[in-house]
Amino acid sequence: MTKVLGISGSLRRGSYNSALLRAAARLMPADASIEIASIRGIPLYDGDVEAQGIPPTVTALKEAIIAADGVLLVTPEYNNSIPGVFKNAIDWLSRPAADIKRVFGGRRFALLGASPGGFGTVLSQAAWLPVLRTLGTQPWFGGRLVVARAASVFDEAGNLKDAQIEEQLKLFLAGYVAFLRRAAGS
Ligand SMILES: Cc1cc2nc3c(=O)[nH]c(=O)nc-3n(C[C@H](O)[C@H](O)[C@H](O)COP(=O)(O)O)c2cc1C
Repeated sequence: MTKVLGISGSLRRGSYNSALLRAAARLMPADASIEIASIRGIPLYDGDVEAQGIPPTVTALKEAIIAADGVLLVTPEYNNSIPGVFKNAIDWLSRPAADIKRVFGGRRFALLGASPGGFGTVLSQAAWLPVLRTLGTQPWFGGRLVVARAASVFDEAGNLKDAQIEEQLKLFLAGYVAFLRRAAGS
C-alpha cells in the first residue's frame, strides 16, 4: 500500500483546495491512499515559542510526514504566491533545523491547487519550488494540475463535479503514485 499524506493550505470551511484534496483521496489508484492532514492549530512561528519547545501540532504533523511515502501539498494562491498560513506551517515543520533531513530530506512531494481565477494556482505552485528545493525534497514534476475557475468545478457541498478535471486528477495521481512506487523499488 502506497501512503500519501495530503495537506490543504486553506483553513476555510468551504475551501476549494480542501475539496480538491478530498476528491484526490477518493480518486487514488488501487493499493494507494491519502491520509488528510491539517495545518489547523499550528501557531504563528515565533522563535520565542520555539525556545519553549516545538508545539504538539507541529510534532504530530512531522511524524505523519515521516510515516508517509509521499506528501501532496494542495495550495491556494494569495497575491500570486504561497498563502502565509501554509508557508508558516512548513516553516514550523522545518524546525529545529537539525530535523530537516529526517522530515524533508529526499521526501517525494507533489503540488496541486485550485483557485476561482483563470490561472488556477500556477504562480503559487511555482513559488513552492524554491522552498521544496531548500528543504532537500524530491519533487515530482511528471504532471501538473492547476484547477482554475474552481466555483464551477465543485458543487456547493464541495464535491468535484467537473468530469474533465476528474480525469486529469486521476491521471495526475496515477503518475505520482507510479513515481512513489518506482522510488520505493516496488
Ligand atoms: C489575500 C488573498 C489574495 C488572493 N490572491 C489570489 C491570487 O493571486 N490568485 C488567485 O488565483 N486567487 C487569489 N485569491 C483568491 C483565492 O484563490 C480564493 O480565495 C480561494 O478560494 C482560496 O482558496 P480556498 O478556497 O482553498 O480557501 C486571493 C485571496 C485572498 C484572500
